[in-house]
Amino acid sequence: MSTVVSGIRSTGNLHLGNYFGAVKNFIEMQHTHQTFFFIADFHSLTTHPVPGDLHTNVKQVLAEYLACGIDPEKSTIFIQSDIPEIPELYLLLNMNAYLGELERTASFKGKARQQPENVNAGLLTYPVLMAADIIIHKAHFVPVGKDQEQNLEMSRTFARRFNRMYNVETFPIPRAYTFEGKDMVKIPGLDGSGKMGKSEGNAISLAESPASIRKKVMRAVTDTGPTEMHQIKPDVIRNLFTLMEVVSAPDVVSHFDTAYSNCSIRYGDLNKQLAEDIIHFTTPIRTRIEEISKDSVYLSKVAKNGAEKARESASKTLQEVREIIGFRKFY
Ligand code: TRP
Repeated sequence: MSTVVSGIRSTGNLHLGNYFGAVKNFIEMQHTHQTFFFIADFHSLTTHPVPGDLHTNVKQVLAEYLACGIDPEKSTIFIQSDIPEIPELYLLLNMNAYLGELERTASFKGKARQQPENVNAGLLTYPVLMAADIIIHKAHFVPVGKDQEQNLEMSRTFARRFNRMYNVETFPIPRAYTFEGKDMVKIPGLDGSGKMGKSEGNAISLAESPASIRKKVMRAVTDTGPTEMHQIKPDVIRNLFTLMEVVSAPDVVSHFDTAYSNCSIRYGDLNKQLAEDIIHFTTPIRTRIEEISKDSVYLSKVAKNGAEKARESASKTLQEVREIIGFRKFY
């Protein structure tokens, strides 16, 4: 059976874009693959969170994933910092990761621009830590979005480099996973931009209150409306329809589609419907998030079991790697 690893940084809440992208795919994979799912709290340190926030965020993200349907009976769910084998493999991989290639990574350049006062080495070696996360479980697949493709390519490079350097086949070369051969649905933002993202400030989170959802959706960017019959929708409008396609009933979508086509559409109605359908979709998830985050006993049980299972797999790989590199015990 092939192995899948997926991780998420522990900064902030899950939004609709995360849900319809990576999370939904991952949930389906639980049935057919050996799946590891973790919260990347080491990775979150690149932005220097304060200690109290770090823990709260990890807890929130864990509760949110469980609420979405990531199942601790089927998947190994764990917190990255519970697995000391990950930073050790990261250290070892760093020895074969080169400054030039790390500096050229788009995500590094982006972050360096975003936080010029804090261009730390952790940012530079972010893809090395990510590679360690993935290959420590000998993953075959990583369900990643477009923005992570280059980081995954780096993981492939580091896995290949290790295998070649020691003339071994320790690591499978991990591949991006796209569900049923299709690209993942890209959920647009409400500001007319192509992608919903937390840092873009255009996201609707799964835990968001109905009032806040209504406010955001009613303010979504639109245009002055169609002027010709059967006009092609501009991006800002197509984005709203894309959102509708994932949360609304098909007849609702076709109703507004027809209204657009014959120029009778009123964006106020469209947005109102979209807001209600988003609320209808997120309410059961939001309720579960609230229940699970209150259940500390359950959360600690999940984290503990997950850490045990993940360490079992990670320590096996690390032992093999140490052996290959040439570490031998004196005692
Ligand atoms: N870099 C990923 C992100 O920003 C998070 C991540 C860290 C990850 N390690 C990973 C994703 C390993 C998949 C596999 O979303």
